[in-house]
Amino acid sequence: MSKKIALITGANKGIGFETARQLGKQGVSIIAASRNKERGIAAVEKLHAEGIDAEFLQLDVDNDAEIQFAFEFIQNKYGKLDILINNAGIQVEHGDWGVNNTPTISEKALRETFDTNFFQVLKLTNTLLPLIRKSEAGRIVNLSSILGSLTLHSDPSSPIYNSKLFAYDTSKTALNSYTIHLAAALQDTPIKVNSAHPGWVKTDLGSDAAPMEVEDGAKTSVALALLEADGPTGKYIHLGQELPW
Ligand SMILES: NC(=O)c1ccc[n+]([C@@H]2O[C@H](COP(=O)([O-])OP(=O)(O)OC[C@H]3O[C@@H](n4cnc5c(N)ncnc54)[C@H](OP(=O)(O)O)[C@@H]3O)[C@@H](O)[C@H]2O)c1
Repeated sequence: MSKKIALITGANKGIGFETARQLGKQGVSIIAASRNKERGIAAVEKLHAEGIDAEFLQLDVDNDAEIQFAFEFIQNKYGKLDILINNAGIQVEHGDWGVNNTPTISEKALRETFDTNFFQVLKLTNTLLPLIRKSEAGRIVNLSSILGSLTLHSDPSSPIYNSKLFAYDTSKTALNSYTIHLAAALQDTPIKVNSAHPGWVKTDLGSDAAPMEVEDGAKTSVALALLEADGPTGKYIHLGQELPW
């Protein structure tokens, strides 16, 4: 069987880099996509130093021309894509996590967040889908967050009830809906599409206050990328456990 090829967005640091490292250690060929060439190449050099088969791809997910280039690059070089990990994500609201900013959120913050965390994920995924259909066992992993859960946000007893950053949270809710809809659209194919909640992880986005180390934070993405044929699709998962939408 030919080697599996995985494209990971935002692979230069944080959960994306660690996901590339862990998947690479399992023998997957990594296309480490990063918007910044210097940081992306530095990340790939670190992967090479660990004996991982990895290459850099310049991909700002907000850039439609680079999305098209990614399609052409993978089509010409591999003719298929086995794993797509939509990991790149932003949180532009830098206020106090305990302050609900719903009444004051700016349209700019909303649009910026939705562009990267939702619209461009759709664009990249739908563009690459013809290549994923060529895989024997395509896997799509959307990096969501527990903060996208409407069930937990509407439950005053839930641990996230008082963490309401409107743009970030709703962009992940929309992403979850894409997971459900795309999984249903692909139900008659071998392709599996799932949303991952990595946990609250020590990264630039998660901050030093987060309880989870990045090694554990990448585990959900890796597991969903390597699901067997009888694994779930259209689910919202954290470390093997299903979360409520
Ligand atoms: N950390 C947590 O606690 C946590 C919890 C739940 C969900 N998540 C999700 O997990 C994913 C990874 O987060 P992280 O904690 O690893 O964050 P991070 O350390 O801030 O890394 C984010 C990555 O996304 C990249 N990125 C952002 N915008 C991009 C764009 N337009 N094009 C290409 N790359 C872009 C960043 O690139 P640059 O280096 O160029 O900025 C970086 O590589 C995100 O989707 C996040 O929402 C994280």
